[in-house]
Amino acid sequence: MEDSKQPILSVKNLGTSFFLREGEVKAVDGVSFSLNKGEVLALVGESGSGKTVTALSILRLIAWPPGKIVSGDVNLDGVDVFKLPMKEMRNIRGKGIAMILQEPMSSLNPSQTIGRQIQEAVEINQGLTGEAAKKAAIDMLGVVRIPSPEKRYYNYPHELSGGMKQRIMIAIALACRPKVLIADEPTCSLDVTIQAQILKLMQALRKEIDTTILFITSDLGIVAEMADRVAMMYAGQLIEILDVFTLFESPAHPYTKGIMGSIMAMKEGGRLNIIEGDPPNLLHLPSGCHFHPRCEFCQDICKTQEPAYTDLDGDGKHWVRCHFPIKSKLK
Ligand SMILES: Nc1ncnc2c1ncn2[C@@H]1O[C@H](COP(=O)(O)OP(=O)(O)O)[C@@H](O)[C@H]1O
Ligand SMILES: [Mg+2]
Repeated sequence: MEDSKQPILSVKNLGTSFFLREGEVKAVDGVSFSLNKGEVLALVGESGSGKTVTALSILRLIAWPPGKIVSGDVNLDGVDVFKLPMKEMRNIRGKGIAMILQEPMSSLNPSQTIGRQIQEAVEINQGLTGEAAKKAAIDMLGVVRIPSPEKRYYNYPHELSGGMKQRIMIAIALACRPKVLIADEPTCSLDVTIQAQILKLMQALRKEIDTTILFITSDLGIVAEMADRVAMMYAGQLIEILDVFTLFESPAHPYTKGIMGSIMAMKEGGRLNIIEGDPPNLLHLPSGCHFHPRCEFCQDICKTQEPAYTDLDGDGKHWVRCHFPIKSKLK
């Protein structure tokens, strides 16, 4: 899963479990990927597949009990994040890796003006103070297309709509000048029109400010618009990594192919080819390949042996974790 370029963020063999009375839930199990400077990697998977836990683990925000990082390394621009003393994680969060959360409402401080909250990020991460910091905060409101930024600076979160609040969260994250931005389903609580506006904004910002983004989503329309490469998760594991063009042209994992096939069918008004069965219960994972009970290509080996990663084209660009990867193109 390596790229020849030096990645800005690399995650190797990440494992995070929740130790519950009923047993160990391997929410993230042996996940590896890397991000090159300026690229957008989409982390995709259905609800409960381990996307958010992956992001929180990278930032070491897993609370014990019941959660624990059980394996792995995270390297951010040469810094071995998991080896840092906990108190030095403050220097990583924000300035190193900033995260935009699913729920903007719960992450803003209701008793402080939005301007002040952005300014705080500016002061801590850009080393500005006083009027200069305030001006930078107001500029940041402009960057995320908030009208009349000088006035809006004095607004409290409750005076803003959901879409505006998400813009503020983006402004705070970008004010940290992070090396990597993690956006965890940043538009999923917004209505469709506002969602489109926020995505457009993020695309524009990506061009204006050369940011490296880990974009978490379960929406493949967003993937098509935002991502360069895609990492597909299933039941806590990364099952396929590929560029976005290949995702739509020739995905190789039967799960990815099933999902993509159903989307193509939907576009053409055809019958939906939805994958049968439910996502597995993480407490009682199927043996072998976790996807095997739902897989139409399942053979005996799939029921007993976990597949290893295959470098499909031998160039390190398309990895798939399947005993029988599909070589044909999507129709
Ligand atoms: N605080 C927690 N306690 C116990 N289990 C958890 C907790 N957080 C997450 N999990 C488990 O981890 C799995 C992955 O969660 P998550 O990463 O949030 O999924 P998603 O892909 O939807 O972001 C969940 O299905 C759940 O079983
Ligand atoms: Mg999530």
